[in-house]
Amino acid sequence: MSLKEKIDVEKLPHHIAIIMDGNGRWAKEKGHDRLYGHFHGVESVRNIVEGCAELGISYLTLYAFSTENWDRPQDEVTGLMELLVQTIRDEVPTLNKNNIRLQVIGNIGQLPQNAQNELNEAIRETSTNTGLTLIMALSYSSRWEIIDTVQRIGKDIVSGKLKPEAISASTFASYLCTAGFPDPELVIRTSGEYRISNFLLYQIAYSELYFTPTLWPDFRKDDLYQAIINYQSRERRFGKTSEQVS
Ligand code: IPE
Ligand code: IPE
Ligand code: MG
Repeated sequence: MSLKEKIDVEKLPHHIAIIMDGNGRWAKEKGHDRLYGHFHGVESVRNIVEGCAELGISYLTLYAFSTENWDRPQDEVTGLMELLVQTIRDEVPTLNKNNIRLQVIGNIGQLPQNAQNELNEAIRETSTNTGLTLIMALSYSSRWEIIDTVQRIGKDIVSGKLKPEAISASTFASYLCTAGFPDPELVIRTSGEYRISNFLLYQIAYSELYFTPTLWPDFRKDDLYQAIINYQSRERRFGKTSEQVS
């Protein structure tokens, strides 16, 4: 029985979020510079996006560049931005072929103008696709998002559009950049680090976390299946007792 066959298709997560980590270490192990690792990480992105689409997952969020990653050496940041522009340009036909809709979360206005243009174009060209929604987290961090959300809520209160007492959990969620997307049931982090690094802090309150030592450029469909099988073995209690949820 293959790993894929071990997945219970009735109990698939609707939304998987991945912290794609370990590109630099992967490259270093091979005696190359960090950009070589990022370049090979794109191959994993292709493979995992395809894997999620084949399984019928509805949402996949990929943490590709954090707010804090802007502080990396300038040549790495520039290289990553160029890789982003090139990859989006190359991948739009495949996204369309596989009925995948592209979305982004993060402080997109901080990206170089050509990256913003490329993204907007790809979002527009894939907007009518009805299969997997691929959400790229770019210049994203949860603390940035929450502060940005509070600022926009504040403006709507001042302008009289919103009453403070009308702010519910769903109102708050509707101001986050993930508005309209369900919370991820499963969060995967590669590279053996056991941390969240400012990713979707509000949205992962009840997500199942899966950590693997595999470095991102080595991560393939079978690793994804393994994570889903592990997720399916867990009991999600949401604060209740085991008896209440079984
Ligand atoms: C993840 O790999 C990609 C980004 C954060 C852009 P890293 O570049 O963080 O690789 P390591 O963690 O240094 O190995
Ligand atoms: C998290 O990886 C961000 C992304 C994968 C885009 P980092 O490599 O930036 O995180 P830390 O520094 O190990 O926490
Ligand atoms: Mg890292």
